[in-house]
Amino acid sequence: MSDLSALFEAAKAVREKAYAPYSNFLVGAAFRTPDGTVFTGCNVENASYPVSVCAEGGAVSAMIAAGYREIAEAVVVGDAALCTPCGVCRQRFAEFGTENLVVHVADLNGIKQSFTLEELLPAAFELEDKAKDEKD
Ligand code: THU
Repeated sequence: MSDLSALFEAAKAVREKAYAPYSNFLVGAAFRTPDGTVFTGCNVENASYPVSVCAEGGAVSAMIAAGYREIAEAVVVGDAALCTPCGVCRQRFAEFGTENLVVHVADLNGIKQSFTLEELLPAAFELEDKAKDEKD
């Protein structure tokens, strides 16, 4: 299985764990760091809707908690025509994506479209002093 197929399968598998009783829209995200480590997340909703966290947000938290700070490749799986990341998650990718980040958007059958960060969020807001280096 290729690295990308494995990343897709990881995103599809974690999607099954999503807590989305309000939207009934399950999403899974899987990130690969530059050294090949994979982190996953699923959406977690709340009765107070704005409290909900997207799948990408969960995967970012898992990655940061494990001491990693860079996303080289990402797969987002939803059961929709095109489950592209929301605006907030595009900003998350701007914060932690490598220069060559590719975000693959998939449905349950496989990847449908792939995007660079520039395509997802042109002219992204960034501060110069962010510490993106891997933690030691
Ligand atoms: N959602 C994600 O988790 N990631 C995306 O890329 C798109 C949308 C979630 C948020 C909410 O729980 C549900 O999908 C419906 O919007």
